[in-house]
Amino acid sequence: MNTRVLTGITTSGTPHLGNYAGAIRPSIQASKLPGVDAFYFMADYHALIKCDDPQRIARSRLEIAATWLAAGLDPDKVTFYRQSDIPEIPELCWMLTCVTAKGLMNRAHAYKASVDQNVARQVDPDDGINMGLFSYPILMAADILMFNANKVPVGRDQIQHLEMTRDIAQRFNHLYGQGTDFFVLPEVQIDDDVATLPGLDGRKMSKSYDNTIPLFEGGAKALRSAVKRIVTDSREPGEAKDAEGSHLYTIYRAFATPAESAAFRQRLEAGLAWGEAKDVLSERIERDLAPMREQYSSLIAQPDRIEDILQAGAAKARSLSQPFIARLREAVGLRTVVSSAASKHAGAAEPKAAGKRARFVSFRDEAGKFRFRLLSAEGAELLLSEAFDNPKEIGAVTKALQDPPFTSLVTEENGMVLVSVSGATVARFPSSRFACIQDAIGELGQA
Ligand code: TRP
Repeated sequence: MNTRVLTGITTSGTPHLGNYAGAIRPSIQASKLPGVDAFYFMADYHALIKCDDPQRIARSRLEIAATWLAAGLDPDKVTFYRQSDIPEIPELCWMLTCVTAKGLMNRAHAYKASVDQNVARQVDPDDGINMGLFSYPILMAADILMFNANKVPVGRDQIQHLEMTRDIAQRFNHLYGQGTDFFVLPEVQIDDDVATLPGLDGRKMSKSYDNTIPLFEGGAKALRSAVKRIVTDSREPGEAKDAEGSHLYTIYRAFATPAESAAFRQRLEAGLAWGEAKDVLSERIERDLAPMREQYSSLIAQPDRIEDILQAGAAKARSLSQPFIARLREAVGLRTVVSSAASKHAGAAEPKAAGKRARFVSFRDEAGKFRFRLLSAEGAELLLSEAFDNPKEIGAVTKALQDPPFTSLVTEENGMVLVSVSGATVARFPSSRFACIQDAIGELGQA
């Protein structure tokens, strides 16, 4: 079985060179490995926690989608979608919220850091903290558990969120699983080989330090001018440079082959001037970026193409999340009144056996149509109905099925039994199951 790898990208900014080398490029490479099913999504609900500027949210989603596609993400191989296109995620988030201890959230680092800052500033501890920030880890758990990811590649700052996800998943499995686990416990994946680029001032490249080198914005010119601003020491042209200690060399290595890096290092040690070294560095980066930038510009100019790709990604993701959320709704008791009336009715006749009898269970399928199953007392699926447009039809049909004799509703054809109600086929099943289905329905009819 393939390993499901899932990660989210918060859509609150424009990707820079550090994001490319540290996250985008390695994720795209990982998605191409055999045996990997990658789920990459834009965490735009998460972006709302920190940003209330609609223009920025909208722009960032477009730029991030275009960046990942331009950098070589293959949307046919990877499931690439926007979090906000999957309504099952916030629905699951609520179910998880209701099984998560508040105390667990009190311990979350990001929330605690904000409280500590407020205390240090001698203002109200909750000053400026919204419930989105407080519950952030639950939404992240919903992202991960919705698709039962096995591995979640993230930065070290996210390890605690993964631990919380596992806690929450275990709690839900324990409360509702009845022996079958709904959720896989995901593992965090920290990649220490991935390049962390220094920014212009030598600290980690980050938007919050305002020390970034642009990825595509402003073209080759902006790239060159940012590289010119990387800090170096004051060694003169002709003086030997300390390659290992220089930010230029660190960035160069993140783009070059080992042979190219060795050659660059030699030139630095032989006294290459910093100015020239910077030209060598921008040229090397530009060689990788130029073809992608062209793609990027063309994509940004055709937002409808990006939208189509994202819609297709959402459809792919929802083909998994829709049937799964239907099972989870069923598990927590958010069922159609038809099935709860049936089980209540059944329970009334034989209180001792409550919950231990055959039952009809209705749900919404991947195509959004309504179906029902007949489950045995042990919960095994005996019969799956055809699809109905209207959930009301299910009530009428399951009622008709319980009106004996059952044999008056069936015909046999090539080893299959067809069940018809008012002239329409409502279900079919292999003839070998006839006896046990007849018994199960008989049991319901008597109740
Ligand atoms: N919190 C993550 C970050 O800031 C982004 C994210 C949201 C995420 N949902 C996720 C990452 C699910 C992995 C899995 O980097």
